[in-house]
Amino acid sequence: MSISDLAYRKVLIDRTAEKATDTAATLFKTIVCETVGRNGVCRVALAGGTTPHALYQKLAAGGISEEVPWRSVEVFFGDERDVPQDNVESNYYMVQRILLDHVPVEPTKVHPMRGDAEDLPTAAMEYEQTIRKLLPACGEGFPSFDLIMLGMGGEGHTASLFPGSDALNETGKLVTAHFVPVLGRHRLTFTFPLINAARNILLLVTGDDKAAAVLGMLADNPETRQSLPAGRIAPTNGMLYVILDAPAARLTGMASS
Ligand code: 6PG
Repeated sequence: MSISDLAYRKVLIDRTAEKATDTAATLFKTIVCETVGRNGVCRVALAGGTTPHALYQKLAAGGISEEVPWRSVEVFFGDERDVPQDNVESNYYMVQRILLDHVPVEPTKVHPMRGDAEDLPTAAMEYEQTIRKLLPACGEGFPSFDLIMLGMGGEGHTASLFPGSDALNETGKLVTAHFVPVLGRHRLTFTFPLINAARNILLLVTGDDKAAAVLGMLADNPETRQSLPAGRIAPTNGMLYVILDAPAARLTGMASS
C-alpha cells in the first residue's frame, strides 16, 4: 500500500514512544507560543485515552511547562465518557489530575463536557454553543480551534467517532452525543466538520497494536483511508501532524528519524 505526502498532512516518526511524546510536546509548545504571540490567546482541545498521559506529564513538568504561556490558553475537550467529572474514566478528570492541576491555566478558561448530564444531546448542544461563543468562525462558518489533540484506537476510531457510527457523517452539528454499541456506553464527541476546521491537529499514536490502523489511515487510496475514522481527519485550512513511534509505523515502510 503506498503512502504519499498530502498537502495538509505531515507524518513524523520517532524510534520510541518517549521520543514521539517529546516531538508532540515540542510541537504543542511551538503552536501555542506562535498562536498566543499572534492572537493573544490559543484555543486547544485535548484528547482522552492513555497515550497522552506521558505527553501531559511532560507538559506539566518544569522545562517545557515554563515556556508555555498557560494563562493565555483556553482548554476544551474533544470527547468525553458518560461519567461524572470526578470519575477515573472521565477525560476531564485525567487531564485535570495530570496536567491542569500543575500549570497556571485560568480555571474559568477550562471547559469540561458534561458527560454525566441526564440529557446528553442537550449537553452536546450546550457545548457547541460554548464553542460558538468563544471561537471565531472560519471561512465555511465552522469555528476553528488553534489546536486539536487526538489519539486513535486499534480499529481506527478517533475522539469518540467509531467505525460504522452515524456520527461519522454528521455535517451540521459540531458536537454530538451518541450510543457506541461496541462500548455499550454513550459518548460526547467533536464531529468532523469541527475537527477539520482546526488550524492544527496533532494525532499522536504509539504502539504495535495500532500498526494496521495506521497503515489504513495513511493510505493513498481515499476509500481505504476513509474506511477508518482517523483517515477522515483532513483539515480544510490547517495542518495535520501525525506523530508515530516506530512500532506504530512498522507497516508503512516509512523510516523513523
Ligand atoms: C478517549 C479518546 C479516544 C482515544 C483512543 C486511543 O476518550 O478514549 O479520546 O479517541 O484517543 O481511544 O486511546 P488510547 O490512547 O488509550 O489507546
